[in-house]
Amino acid sequence: MITGVGSYLPKNKFSNESLSNFVDTSDEWISKRSGIKNRHFVEDNENTSDMAFFAANKALENAQISKNDIDLIVLATTTPDNTFPSTATLVQKKLEINAVSFDIQAVCAGFIFALSVAKSMMIEGMYKNCLVIGADAMSKLLDWKDRSTSVLFGDGAGAIILQKFENIESKYDDWGILSNIIHSDGQFYNLLKTTGGVSTSQKVGFIEMEGKEVFKHAIDKLSTSLDEALKNSNKNIDELDWLVPHQANQRIILAVADKMKIDVSKVISTVKDHGNTSAASIPLALDNAIASNKILNGNLIGLHAIGGGLSWGASIIRIGTPKIL
Ligand code: UT7
Repeated sequence: MITGVGSYLPKNKFSNESLSNFVDTSDEWISKRSGIKNRHFVEDNENTSDMAFFAANKALENAQISKNDIDLIVLATTTPDNTFPSTATLVQKKLEINAVSFDIQAVCAGFIFALSVAKSMMIEGMYKNCLVIGADAMSKLLDWKDRSTSVLFGDGAGAIILQKFENIESKYDDWGILSNIIHSDGQFYNLLKTTGGVSTSQKVGFIEMEGKEVFKHAIDKLSTSLDEALKNSNKNIDELDWLVPHQANQRIILAVADKMKIDVSKVISTVKDHGNTSAASIPLALDNAIASNKILNGNLIGLHAIGGGLSWGASIIRIGTPKIL
């Protein structure tokens, strides 16, 4: 069951107008093409692990569980503090707990992949209380001379607590992660990638993207994966209380809602205020919607995301607990 959600945004907020002071762009272009108005950026001395740690603490607080009960940390990120070790181990160190900890790399789809891995490991039986985090400092990968990508991304982190309860009656089976679908297709590797990496250039590189191609794949693959996840959980789109999509572009969010025939009033959108925060985007949007009393305990929610790889996937979750404990 998903017993707690938390998130963190860096203090520094940048509007489209402020970006246009150092990028050849305008508020009009960014708003019209992406729906983004603001994004947050870390300070020079603030790292992915710092954001992940703050989000994790909030999720623990909301789940009302002791950090010492966490036995597994799965952290999705594309912007680790160091090339190795994993950022998850640094979060574990900061939390001062013992837990198996590792990172997942599926770029903007990372959180869905992390959910899938965490669920499998919990079903296997060895882990009971898992901290799943999506955290990215995408600003560290931006080339301010490339206006087609630099205006789209932001930094942030989000976390959820997944707990496995023993001896719960079968009527409570319908809680937590009901289904998970993940896909990847390396034939689209070049559509969205960095210009460098550890083994190719010994530099992290900058983001480069064939925006129009990714846009088309996004609409198609977000829709088909949500369909698959719904089928696997024996639910239909009308049963969803909310859809929390990856927050990359408001035009993609609206096109997918239209294609899936889900009313836009049921679709959570935070892209305007966060930009694309990669692996953090879904848990950030989830926490935002809980904080504003949109998403309530027991709601049935669809999640879906796509990113470099291409990698994509969807989950159907019922959030919260049946309050039986
Ligand atoms: O998280 C992973 C998933 N990522 C995505 O889903 C992103 C998918 N792609 C997109 O969201 C859109 O393709 C973009 C928002 C990136 C771009 O929108 P577009 O409608 O596809 O625009 P475009 O790339 O075709 O650019 C149109 C024009 C070009 O000018 P010309 O050649 O028509 O004269 C660009 O040079 O807009 C120009 N342009 C800009 N102008 C002002 C590109 N970036 C900017 C900018 N400011 N920041």
